[in-house]
Amino acid sequence: MSDFDAAAVEEGLDADYRVEFHESIGSTNDRARELARAGEAGVAVVAGEQTAGRGRRGREWAAPPGGAYVSVLVDPDLAPADAPLLTLAAGVATVRALDGAGVEAGLKWPNDVLVDGAKLAGILTERTADRVVVGVGINVAADPDDLPEGAASVRTLGGDPDRAGIVRRFLAAFDDCRSDPAGILPAWRERSVTLGRRVRVETPDGTVEGEAVDVEHPGTLVLSTADGRRRVTAGDCEHLRPA
Ligand code: BTN
Repeated sequence: MSDFDAAAVEEGLDADYRVEFHESIGSTNDRARELARAGEAGVAVVAGEQTAGRGRRGREWAAPPGGAYVSVLVDPDLAPADAPLLTLAAGVATVRALDGAGVEAGLKWPNDVLVDGAKLAGILTERTADRVVVGVGINVAADPDDLPEGAASVRTLGGDPDRAGIVRRFLAAFDDCRSDPAGILPAWRERSVTLGRRVRVETPDGTVEGEAVDVEHPGTLVLSTADGRRRVTAGDCEHLRPA
């Protein structure tokens, strides 16, 4: 058995997903969207490399060989507007999966997984007509020269680079979060590295700066600013040095 294929991920998997594995693919999110159009759900598209990985806001996501790239196609019980909650759930599931690899990571709002400020994983949630695709890219064991500057990986952090184990734990933890939606925000707050920090968020309506004080349903960041409380639902968030 290869150390990273569908059988290795499914071995002992405690979650009800069909695993579709690709050694290399353009984008697991694109493949999951294709499956959504064909009416499928409950599928985890997993790959060891992506040649056209996508990040948030149309950015490219470097996805060299040695990584773990997963897109879960779900038929959500949540209202479509609550999809951001699934991004937070995926973050919680990712840090739990990494705990099992011996790497303690934190969550930066809205979709980053960091260790000491270095990005270890990212999440891209996309809605289709009646499905949600939640894509997670985890830097596991790629050649550091192939990763963006400043990125971290499980291997460089000295963790266990067993990709099948990481994906299996991610899928099980994601399922646990989905079965307990009320537990998602408390779990996210507990692992957040954004709350309590001064942040600058570039939103579609302008820049908001202040202290991140809470995250509210379905994933709204609450900031305490010089002009009072502000709530932001989307944007790029930068952690600032304490004033
Ligand atoms: C970001 O940080 O901007 C989000 C990155 C999300 C990358 C993952 S890798 C698996 C899935 N397939 C993609 O093309 N993108 C997501």
